[in-house]
Amino acid sequence: MQKEIERELALEFVRVTEAGALACGRLMGMGDKEACDEAAVQAMRRALDTVDIDGAVVIGEGEMDEAPMLYIGEKVGTGRGPRVDVAVDPLEGTTVLSKGLPRSMAVIAVAEQGCLFHAPDMYMDKLAVGPKARGRIDLDLPIEENLRSIAEGLQKNVFDLVVVILDRARNRHLIDSVRKAGARIQLIPDGDLSPAIAVAFEDSGVDVLAGIGGAPEGVLAAAALRCLEGEMQARLWPTSPEEAERARTMGISDVRRKLTMDDLVKTDDVIFAATGVTNGELLEGVRYIGSIAKTHSIVMRGATGTVRIVRASHRLDKKPLYVKAKA
Ligand code: FBP
Repeated sequence: MQKEIERELALEFVRVTEAGALACGRLMGMGDKEACDEAAVQAMRRALDTVDIDGAVVIGEGEMDEAPMLYIGEKVGTGRGPRVDVAVDPLEGTTVLSKGLPRSMAVIAVAEQGCLFHAPDMYMDKLAVGPKARGRIDLDLPIEENLRSIAEGLQKNVFDLVVVILDRARNRHLIDSVRKAGARIQLIPDGDLSPAIAVAFEDSGVDVLAGIGGAPEGVLAAAALRCLEGEMQARLWPTSPEEAERARTMGISDVRRKLTMDDLVKTDDVIFAATGVTNGELLEGVRYIGSIAKTHSIVMRGATGTVRIVRASHRLDKKPLYVKAKA
């Protein structure tokens, strides 16, 4: 068996997400989501090159022919370290950042090779909760039953629960059912990764993430929840026979199978790091004060359960490589 991913690497991964956030944060509200994404991708890719891992991207910017960098299968790191799976979302919430709205962040999860679910770029139905509700969810049961069981675990009433759901037509039935059950709802326009992690923090103000969003974001959320001892269940939600076929070619024989934590992230030896780009329930966004930029990050290790919140102050004049100045 390969030895544990060194704990020193945790701080290296924060450097990577900080680089992504610093590079794209300047473009907040400029209305150009491609530019936001490109800035984050380039900075994160460059920073990853300096990290001592022998990594392969399993969740990234798409297929090799779709993305110039951080595509699925791309080798990252110096090649001198543990062999690992790398899941990246250099900018979770591209539209969000381009409009200056909440919940965008730069994200990475790294685990022993073969341990992260190779999610195709399609939708996924998700149900995520924090540690006190772990073992109390079942995606096969109606949401009303799940909410009753989650409320019991959290020692709350169902009508005290806050359920976060992406505001999409495909989630309409779910929204109606949650309303009927009497729970409170937060409908979000974008960015379901931040609340999927925030459910694990009791004072975050959100208790459950439910509904259909992106599958790559689902795997990243599961990596974070693995570190926080929360739980997520999921099911791929292909929208065409081509998408279902694509999942099959990626080795997922039963596309409609319910995915548990062990399917999504097979090991506790996982590191998750994220840096806020705009404010969210989990992290504050990047602040620029003259030649200083302040970042707010979280980094966690499943092997030990350690959660670190990292507040950093960056001298932009001394980091020309990581920071693209506003044109
Ligand atoms: P991007 O970073 O690609 O903009 O994704 C943001 C996001 O809102 C995710 O948080 C969510 O899982 C997914 O998109 C939902 O997809 P869609 O906007 O197609 O409904």
